[in-house]
Amino acid sequence: MAKKVHIRTFGCQMNQADTEIITSLLQDEGYVMTDSEDSADLVILNTCAVRENAVEKIMNTLDNLKGMRRIRPGLLVGVIGCVPQYYREKMFEMSDGIDFLAGPDTYRQLPLLIENAEQGIRGASLGFVPEETYTGVEPVRTGSISAFVPVMRGCNNRCAFCVVPFTRGKERSRSAKSVIDEVERLAVSGYKEITLLGQNVNSYFDDDTGCGFSELLDRVSHVAEGTRIRFTTSHPKDISESLVRVIADRENICNTIHLPVQSGSTRMLKLMNRGHSREEYLEKISMIRRCIPGVTISTDLIAGFCGEAEEDHRETLSLMEEVRFDFSYMFYYSVRPGTYAAKHLPDDVSEKVKKRRLEEVIALQNRISGELHAAEIGNVVEVLAETKSKRSDQMLMGRTGTNRVVVFDRDGHEPGNLVTVRILSSTSATLIGNPE
Ligand code: SAM
Ligand code: SF4
Ligand code: F3S
Repeated sequence: MAKKVHIRTFGCQMNQADTEIITSLLQDEGYVMTDSEDSADLVILNTCAVRENAVEKIMNTLDNLKGMRRIRPGLLVGVIGCVPQYYREKMFEMSDGIDFLAGPDTYRQLPLLIENAEQGIRGASLGFVPEETYTGVEPVRTGSISAFVPVMRGCNNRCAFCVVPFTRGKERSRSAKSVIDEVERLAVSGYKEITLLGQNVNSYFDDDTGCGFSELLDRVSHVAEGTRIRFTTSHPKDISESLVRVIADRENICNTIHLPVQSGSTRMLKLMNRGHSREEYLEKISMIRRCIPGVTISTDLIAGFCGEAEEDHRETLSLMEEVRFDFSYMFYYSVRPGTYAAKHLPDDVSEKVKKRRLEEVIALQNRISGELHAAEIGNVVEVLAETKSKRSDQMLMGRTGTNRVVVFDRDGHEPGNLVTVRILSSTSATLIGNPE
C-alpha cells in the first residue's frame, strides 16, 4: 500500500514553495500526501531557523512527535530545510526522534533517505548544491487561486544578524524561460495571483540571456495579462528606478512593495551591514512614491539589535512616522550563532528593553495602519476573494492589489472572484465593506 506523508511547513514563503516541490518529488515516487499527522506513515518538518523561537517551535514539535512514535512505533520523522542545514548532523543529538535530515539543496535525495530510514538507516544529506534550482520539477500546488514561483534561491548578502546565507547557500537564478513558462502555465490554468519569490529578487540574473529582474517581471506580466503579479523580497540597496517603472507601467503588477529596512538609524544599518543609510532608504521611498501613485509599502523591523541605544530606537520610530508604512513584520533581535553579529557584536540590549522597544514599534505601526485604513473608508476597491472569513461563512476575506486585507459580505461571490467592494469601516488590520 502507498505510504502516506504529512509535511508540516514552518517559516517563510520560500519554505512553502519548497514544500510544493517536495510534494511533487515524493508523489513521483508513489507516496501519497495526507493532511493529518494521525494517518501518516511519515511526518516531514520543513523548518525555519531565522530566530531562536522558530527553532524552539521545531524542538517542541519533535517532542510531541516522540510521544506519537511511542504509540505508533513505525512512524518515521524527517527534519528538512533551514534548521538541519544550520545545525547539521548535530540535529541528531538535539533530538533522538529524527530518522533523517535534508537541507534546502538536497530534496532530490529525499526518496533515498526515506527508503534508508524505512530500513532503520539514519541518514543526512546536507551538502550545498550551488546550481540546484529544482528546474524541471513541477510543484504540486496547495491552492488554486494564488501560487508562488521561486525565481532564485540562496542569498549572497551578509546581513550581520541573518542565518539565511548559511542555510540556503549561494545565490542562483532560474532561467528566465523556465520562470516565464511556469507563470504562463499557471495563468492558463486559472490562477488569479502569482508571487515571484527570492531573498533578494533585485539580484535575479539569468546568465545565459542577461535577463535581470526588471525585464523578467515585465515579461512575466505579459504572459499572464489577467493575473495579478506580486514579488518579494526587494533589498533597499538594490531596488532600481527601472524596476519601479515596470511596476508603474504594467497594469497587472500589484502596486505594493515590501522593502525591509530593519532600523531607522544609519549607525545600526551599518552595524547590520545592510549597505545603505537612513537617507538613502528615504530617497528610495520618494522615488517609489513619485513613480507609482497610490503604492503601498511594507517593511521588516528589528528592535534591540547589538549596541542599539535609545536614540537609535527613536530613529526607527521617526522613520516609521516619516514613511508611514502600510504594514510591518516586527521582531526583536535574536542572536544566531555563527553570524557576524554573534561572533563580533555584543548582544548588549537586555531582553526587557528589546521587548519594550518592540512593543513601542508595534503600537506605532498599529496606529499608522489604523489611520491609513480609516482613510480608505468610502473608497471603492477591487478585491481578490481568497477564503471564507474567520468570523462568518457569510463573509469573504481577500486582498486589494495594494495588499490590504478586506472582509466583505459574500453576496453570492466565491473565493477566486475579483469583487468591487465599497469600504464602510476599518480596523488597524482590516478593511470592512460591501460589494458594490
Ligand atoms: N531577504 C529578506 C531581506 O533582506 O529583507 C528577509 C529575509 S529574513 C528571512 C526575514 C526577516 O527576518 C528579516 O527581514 C529580519 O527583519 C528578520 N530577521 C532575520 N534575522 C533575524 C534575527 N536574528 N533576529 C530577529 N529578526 C531577524
Ligand atoms: Fe538575510 Fe540579508 Fe540575505 Fe535578507 S538580504 S536573506 S536579511 S542576509
Ligand atoms: Fe525562510 Fe526561515 Fe529559512 S525565513 S529561508 S525558512 S531560515
